[in-house]
Amino acid sequence: MEKIRIAIQKSGRLSEKSLSLLKEAGISLDNGSRKLRSEARFFPLEVIFLRDDDIPQYVEDGVAHIGIVGENEYAEKACEVDLIERLGYSRCKLSIAIPKSESYRGVEDLEGKRIATSYPVILKNFLAEHGVSADIHFLSGSVEIAPSIGVADAIFDIVSSGSTLISNGLKEVEVAMKSEAVVIANRDLDDDIQAILAKLLFRIRSVMAASSNKYILLNAPNDKLQEIISLLPGMKSPTVMPLAEEGWSSVHSVLRESTFWEVIDRLKELGAQGILVIPIEKMIV
Ligand code: PRP
Ligand code: ZN
Repeated sequence: MEKIRIAIQKSGRLSEKSLSLLKEAGISLDNGSRKLRSEARFFPLEVIFLRDDDIPQYVEDGVAHIGIVGENEYAEKACEVDLIERLGYSRCKLSIAIPKSESYRGVEDLEGKRIATSYPVILKNFLAEHGVSADIHFLSGSVEIAPSIGVADAIFDIVSSGSTLISNGLKEVEVAMKSEAVVIANRDLDDDIQAILAKLLFRIRSVMAASSNKYILLNAPNDKLQEIISLLPGMKSPTVMPLAEEGWSSVHSVLRESTFWEVIDRLKELGAQGILVIPIEKMIV
């Protein structure tokens, strides 16, 4: 039987979360990430572990059918692959930074400067969009030390927590793009692989929906029931059951993580009591 081959970063900012996403989707691998490849149990899938920079090309060539990469690598490599899902983790920015003692008024200050980066394509596009011409200096790593050793005036690199910039005496002055983990796919997958991919994506979406939603139970005074229900749309609509105590109902629903605290505050104002919030293991969407 055919198996879908997925490329995942061997080690680095994406690998651990990508493996745990697969695990939550019920795909357990027969060994750790030590080997170059690993087979899933009970699902037609094989993982190959690669450097993130190599993943777009392997997917374009069909060596892997799909891959999980940072959107930054997808944009930089500009390979002939499709971005088919955003995964929401490993969020970062691609930013220009300069020594913090230097003044900065706007992109025009970058004119004629030397900018060190591992992302020359994205940087080139950003500069062109802003009508700035600068000297792009390619470095495959340790970009952040370039200004202090005098090989560049500025850098263009990944910023996540920002601590690398701080510890190298740099400040962010422009954000060229935001990035997160994404699934990319080869453009020429046969029907069997497409069918496996659909199953895999269905599972991944269920895991993502579950982690961005909570199950909520509360007791509502009947005179405020309609207002409370309108705050909790749920998947279809909330479940409402009468409590043994006259004048009160029990309401069960699903709540989005992003609006969580706002809604909780409003529910309390409306007199909701005994509010319980429970994590959802899987949510079938
Ligand atoms: C990136 C980047 C910075 C650091 C920024 O490197 O090159 O060094 O992360 O993160 P921070 O804002 O949280 O400090 P990464 O760890 O991806 O390694 P790589 O450059 O070797 O791929
Ligand atoms: Zn990298």
